[in-house]
Amino acid sequence: MSLARPEILVDPYPHYAKLRENTPVFFYEPLNSWMFTKYADCVAVLKDSARFAADWRRVGEQVPPRAINMLTLDPPEHTGVRRLFLETLRAQDNAKIEAQIAARTTELLDSLQDRESFDFLTEFAEPLALNTTADYLGVEPPEAEWTSRVGRIVAAGMDAGLWPERGAQLRDAHEELADLVDGWMADLPKTGILGELRARLDGTDVAPDVLANTVRGLLFSGFSSGGKLLASAAVTVFHERAAALPDFVAADPVRATDELVRYAGPIQAVARACITDTTIGDTQVKAEQAVTLLLGAANRDPDRFADPESVHLDRHPNPHLGFGRGPKSCLGSPFTAILLRVVMRMLSQRFPEAHATGEPSYLPNLTLRSLDRFPVSLRAESQAGVP
Ligand code: HEM
Repeated sequence: MSLARPEILVDPYPHYAKLRENTPVFFYEPLNSWMFTKYADCVAVLKDSARFAADWRRVGEQVPPRAINMLTLDPPEHTGVRRLFLETLRAQDNAKIEAQIAARTTELLDSLQDRESFDFLTEFAEPLALNTTADYLGVEPPEAEWTSRVGRIVAAGMDAGLWPERGAQLRDAHEELADLVDGWMADLPKTGILGELRARLDGTDVAPDVLANTVRGLLFSGFSSGGKLLASAAVTVFHERAAALPDFVAADPVRATDELVRYAGPIQAVARACITDTTIGDTQVKAEQAVTLLLGAANRDPDRFADPESVHLDRHPNPHLGFGRGPKSCLGSPFTAILLRVVMRMLSQRFPEAHATGEPSYLPNLTLRSLDRFPVSLRAESQAGVP
């Protein structure tokens, strides 16, 4: 059994379906980890941070100080950091964020509308996610090519358990991102998330390095996961034609975006360390063993979602795990939902005939499903080639 074969990484969903059916839980030697594919099992682990740790120090592993941030902490240490960021993010003005995202989207679409074909990932999704995340944080956007390069190294490095050689460049990439964020932290801006943090610093006892490391996590999540989500949503619509672009005009925007996150969310796997012997479903997980939750598989579990392999823009309820669940569920989900909603609305209103002009290609990543390139045109097919 392998999850790392190139053809599986390109399209893991048929393989997930076989696993859910035949071996919904299995021990995967290359990762030295239990793998869970069923929705109910994944939810049970995600909700139980007492018995399943995101903080690997709880099972005796060394975690470098640079790596400790909200994502790597568990309650009780996690609680105060999460509260600080939750309040900071909630204090943001969603109407202003939506207007900023709309302006950035308009600007990019204007610059691409006459192109016969362009790469949706590197020319649209990545720069849009980067610029809007920078607006959200309250900083000037970093250079797009640099961010794309560093982001690809970090995303690939999340699979260093499978391909140890990917770990080599990872530390330098983290250091480059850390240098950028340290500059912001030394002189916090007055607007956005960092402006709000500046106003709250006196009232918090969160350690400065945990703060900076968490801001680095927000930056990475925003531009990397955000860009990947936009790109895979575009593949769903333009290439797989699992939903038609004009249908987004009439769709309930909240339900439609949730469904795209369920169907095409980029975060395929999250890992936890078992703290004490625990039974999940029929599986006895022993203390100190690793568990990996295949969220991409859980999101298409027929025991939880009717007709899971199809896109239903009005699916409701839609308790997908694309933003995680429980004490560590995604804090960026409201922002991400606005980003995806604005993009789909603008594309469907302005360019209902946008289409793929070639096949998407993927990077060989398991944890963060990542497109490499995806050629798209915003013009009607009959216009393609007309100068
Ligand atoms: C600006 C954009 C984003 C920000 C600021 C952000 C922020 C975060 C943070 C801070 C956490 C950790 C929460 C905690 O430990 O308490 C988290 C978790 C998570 N995020 Fe996001 N995120 C963003 C975008 C995304 C996107 C686009 C996706 C995928 C569609 C995503 C999926 C997840 C998932 C699955 C988790 C749970 C991880 C786990 O359980 O280990 N995030 N996010």
